[in-house]
Amino acid sequence: MTIRLAVLASGRGSNLQAILDAIAGGQLDAEVVGVFSDKPAAAALQRVPEAGRWARDPKAFADRAAFDAALADAVAACTPDWVVCAGYMRILGDAFVQRFRGRLLNIHPSLLPRHRGLQTHARVLSEGDAEHGASVHFVSPELDAGAVLAQAAIPIEPGDTPERLATRVLALEHPLLVAVLQWAAAGRISECDGQACLDGQPLFTPRRLRFAPA
Ligand code: GRF
Repeated sequence: MTIRLAVLASGRGSNLQAILDAIAGGQLDAEVVGVFSDKPAAAALQRVPEAGRWARDPKAFADRAAFDAALADAVAACTPDWVVCAGYMRILGDAFVQRFRGRLLNIHPSLLPRHRGLQTHARVLSEGDAEHGASVHFVSPELDAGAVLAQAAIPIEPGDTPERLATRVLALEHPLLVAVLQWAAAGRISECDGQACLDGQPLFTPRRLRFAPA
């Protein structure tokens, strides 16, 4: 079944591009039915036709709840099967999360539960971690705390800086996100009682996926 994807993005949109490339290349049976942003100038928006773009400046809304409600209505209007946060940098309020719960995924640049929030690459180095990576998880009301489906890891190398790590981790994010969306397209993933399930079975630890270096 071709799954309908709504993608939320705030920045350059390289993860969105990875999804679009996988669809175009026949590796992912999906359609991006809308791209949604809190940054009207986000480069991510330019990656899809104008008819598929929605962007609003949150400052034009009375409060977070009003922005989230407008976003949620726009997302719902395109009847997605899955809502994917791919570099969406604004916290989603509870009402949004509850409306799409179980169908709402996020890619985060760390091996969750380590380093929730921002500046993950710098914190990995300052805390002396031996490895780093990326996670795809279901979104829950608490930031970056939802059930993790899959992760990909790299060892920290001498000479790594936050910038170098951002590049190395981004190269993992793209295939990791596509892999999880392939599971979604195959009907293999679900969130059951707050747990990530693959093929109907709870994953007691995130599935570790390996990718050849780019
Ligand atoms: C990625 O590292 C993502 O994990 C993080 O923001 C970055 C977005 O990159 N939350 P892009 O916009 O997909 O290129």
